[in-house]
Parts: sequence; C-alpha cells; structure tokens
Amino acid sequence: MKKILITGATGQIGTALFPALCKRYGRGNIIVAGHNRKPDPGLLETDLYVTLDVRDRDVLANIVKNHHIDTIYHLASLLSAKAEADPQLAWDVNVNGLYNVLEVARHQHCAVFYPSSIGAFGPTTPQDNTPQVTVQRPRTMYGVSKVTGELLCDYYHHHYGVDARGIRFPGLISYEVLPGGGTTDYAVDIFYAALKDKKYTCFLAPGTYLDMMYMPDAVRAAIEVMEAEPGSLIDRNAFNVTAMSFAPEELAAAIEQHVPGFSISYDVDPVRQAIADSWPNHMDDSAAREQWGWQPRYDLQAMTKDMVEKLNKKIEGTEAEGRKKKA
Ligand code: SER
Repeated sequence: MKKILITGATGQIGTALFPALCKRYGRGNIIVAGHNRKPDPGLLETDLYVTLDVRDRDVLANIVKNHHIDTIYHLASLLSAKAEADPQLAWDVNVNGLYNVLEVARHQHCAVFYPSSIGAFGPTTPQDNTPQVTVQRPRTMYGVSKVTGELLCDYYHHHYGVDARGIRFPGLISYEVLPGGGTTDYAVDIFYAALKDKKYTCFLAPGTYLDMMYMPDAVRAAIEVMEAEPGSLIDRNAFNVTAMSFAPEELAAAIEQHVPGFSISYDVDPVRQAIADSWPNHMDDSAAREQWGWQPRYDLQAMTKDMVEKLNKKIEGTEAEGRKKKA
C-alpha cells in the first residue's frame, strides 16, 4: 500500500498531481504539505494537509514517520526568475530542502520523485535535440540548484539505495493554479489574457522556442516514472521529457483559432529572455520513451483547445460565485 507525501503541494504541479494520486492510490493515502500558498479550503479541514517548510528537517521527519509515508513527491521549489531575484533563498529551498528530503528518505526508506527542469541546461548545451546526457553548465541559480539536485538524487540512489527518480520538466501549462516566478509562465498567462482582454503582451521575444507540456501529461509522466520497473531505468536523475516546442507567436496563432481577434505584442524582459535563450529549443526525450514508455498525449493544438475550454469554465465558475456572494 502506498502512502505518499507531496511537498509544495499547493503549487502549480502539486494542485494537479494531488487529485491524480488520490484517484490512483486512494484519497486517504495522500498527505499534502504546503508552506506559502493557501490550500484548497476543503483540504484545510482534514488531517491530509500539513504545513511544512522543507528547510525544517525535523518537522519533515515527523510527518513522514507519523503518516507512515513511503513515497515523497518533492515539488517545493523556487522557479527560475524568482530564483534569480533571490539566489541565496533559491539555494536554501531548492538544494537544502531536497537534501532534507533525501536524508529523511534514507532513514525512513522512502522513494523520492524529483522534478528537474530544462533549466538544468545552459548556453553551452546543444539546443536542438538536446541529448539525455550532455553538457550541463547552467548560469542561473535555478539551473545550478537543479543540476545539484540531479546529482544528489543519483548519489543517494547509488550510495544508500534510495529509490530517487526524476524528470526534466519543460514549461508546464495548466489552468488550476498559476505557476509564479518562472520563465515559461508566459505560456500560461497568455491564456488568461486572451480570454479576458483578447490581447497579451509577451515578455519573451518572437522566435524563442522552448519545450512545453500540458499538465495532464506532466502528471502522468511523474506517476509513470515512479511506477516504472526499476531494472529498466538507466538514467533515473533526471529524464528529458517533452510534448511540444513552440515560440510565442505560434502559441498566439493557435489561441487565435479559438479566440478570434486575439493579438500578441512584445515587451521583452531581458532577464527572462536571457534565461530562455540559455535553455534548449527542443529536447530529445527518447531515453524516457525507451526506458519507461513515455508518450505525450497533447500537442500544441490539443492542449490549446482543452486549455481554452477548461479556463473558460473556470472563469465562468468564478464569476458566478462572485455574483452569488454579492446577491
Ligand atoms: N517552468 C520553469 C521556469 O520557467 C522551468 O522549469 O522556471
């Protein structure tokens, strides 16, 4: 029987991963830990929600012990732009937080899922068909923390037998909770702006290609890699995975098919542009496909259609709620 702890559970990935894990392993077996953002009010009333700053190892160890946790999805992390604004905090949360998770996992025999990123690559990495094993010399603190995390996970696996597995996520697109502080966030913000104002000012320049993925694929990837036969995993920490690669103007064109009259303009943020320019245009994810059967289901068109539908419903729901409160 699996007993899972999700750290950073109130963030963009955690909010979508929680229901998927509940469906698969039973709601009572998933404990969600958050720190900065407020969780779903329904969760606050249950003992499934715990407050956790991943920098506090004792609190983490007690949660794992008291709830008999055997698997940790460790999602608590600062994203790239936020990490550049406060590199010391980024190191503390992203690296020391992971170190605590791995130490607790070592003592209490837990498996660990670790989300690495396209940010683990840098300007000297081949940008097209970026191989699974290649140069990793990122120049952002986010990237430094992600490469360190990959190495730490491998170390704990080789030296202590901790079943640590990871994925290099591309930009993730979802409608549940906003990402916040990332370089790929434009690909989420653009949908909100399109449905609200029919126009969007993009902080990345046209022609900036980045790998992307729709959240249902990302959630499935995280679950599938953790369920894969250990003997088939050669790379472990961490696997390149991608579903699509596009530039802002291509996403805008796809949205325009569903939102007639939508237009995009540009006001480039040099910090985030430099980060994006140092990341791959498109990763080669054949190792994930071969070793644990990774297969994306959403391409640009399918993702855009679903995003527009789901976000429209969400906005309508929020507006109806607002009207109810006023009445
Ligand atoms: N989405 C992340 C960011 O932009 C990359 O993994 O920071």
